[in-house]
Amino acid sequence: MNSKFSAAQKALDYVKDNTILGLGTGSTTEIFIQLLAERVNTFKKLIFTSTSNRTTSFASHLGLKITPFDEIENVDLTIDGADEVDNNLNGIKGGGGALLFEKIIAKNSKECIWIVDSNKLVESLGKFPLPIEVVPFAFKSLMRNFEEKKLNPKLRLSNGKPFITDSHNFIIDCSIGRIDNSLELELELKLITGVVEVGLFNNIADRVIVGYQDKVDILERK
Ligand code: A5P
Repeated sequence: MNSKFSAAQKALDYVKDNTILGLGTGSTTEIFIQLLAERVNTFKKLIFTSTSNRTTSFASHLGLKITPFDEIENVDLTIDGADEVDNNLNGIKGGGGALLFEKIIAKNSKECIWIVDSNKLVESLGKFPLPIEVVPFAFKSLMRNFEEKKLNPKLRLSNGKPFITDSHNFIIDCSIGRIDNSLELELELKLITGVVEVGLFNNIADRVIVGYQDKVDILERK
């Protein structure tokens, strides 16, 4: 079985009736959304909110109604993917560019589960370039700042033009290499004026479902 599929399928076990679900962004989450859409009639009431325009359109096409996040008080459970996950269940997210809304919804969720294939597990974060969402007005000065910090910044492009996030910002991907203290780095970067959000997701996932070809592992936050 495809390892993303096994993780996505296992996540269905955690969906309870009469709850508000946050839907993440990315290919693994989309498998989950597809499986959920096939079973949605077996639930009396589920309310969905979404972390990106991409997810909103994907889920809507499958008949799932998305309620805007600002019309929701508390999300019960968010299911999302990740780009890297370490042993402490901290991660890097934002490969798909949705880090800001993903972090807002995750931080407003009672529970957060990541679904990943086993290739996403790492001993320490940093091999995956760290996405940093920035205000376009500040991007050149931030590129210089990140150069000086030796973060190897690269402006994310799409068809030769800056990639634009759902909040109309840019993304700078930083090839940092091994990150020894991800919490310290997150706080340091977030204090820089012009930085909107950092793709370091520390102390957010309660549980990570890791898919393999023939099994799933469930990692729980200690
Ligand atoms: C979106 O911005 C990301 O945070 C995704 O959650 C992450 O890139 C995982 O995507 P895949 O499931 O496609 O690997």
